[in-house]
Amino acid sequence: MKKICFVCLGNICRSPMAEFVMKDMAKGQPVLVESRGTSGWEHGNPIHSGTQTVLKQHRIVFDKTKVSQRISLKDFTDFDYLIGMDKDNVRDLKRLSDGRFTEKIFLFTENGVPDPWYTGDFAATYDLVKQGCRYWLSVLSEKAEN
Ligand code: 4NP
Repeated sequence: MKKICFVCLGNICRSPMAEFVMKDMAKGQPVLVESRGTSGWEHGNPIHSGTQTVLKQHRIVFDKTKVSQRISLKDFTDFDYLIGMDKDNVRDLKRLSDGRFTEKIFLFTENGVPDPWYTGDFAATYDLVKQGCRYWLSVLSEKAEN
């Protein structure tokens, strides 16, 4: 069972979107998916309404009780993949773990996913999240075969 964690800044917009898109895509496969934030700014807050709306539009089931969680040191040991949604998230993950888990830290997609907290464009975020999740699912499937 591969354990993967998507990580953004607030854990209310991008990484929970990726978490529930991936859970939907990976149904029935041995993959555990969660999400976290590099900051504690939104800790305890629910998924952003923009992300909730886009998930509903695409009929993707999500946990309405999920609240933002800041990444912990335990998460760095527990997960096999820590996937930052943008380059800043990857930099912060490496800093927060003092460079001890670099081999587990990845960028979601080549150019990252711009933050809809600032762009306001949750539909564009969804398209990028879906492409990235397809890519990661293919990576995990290849690993499962080897
Ligand atoms: P996210 O978006 O990292 O995709 O969850 C943000 C959410 C909240 C804030 C920034 C980005 N904030 O400044 O509180």
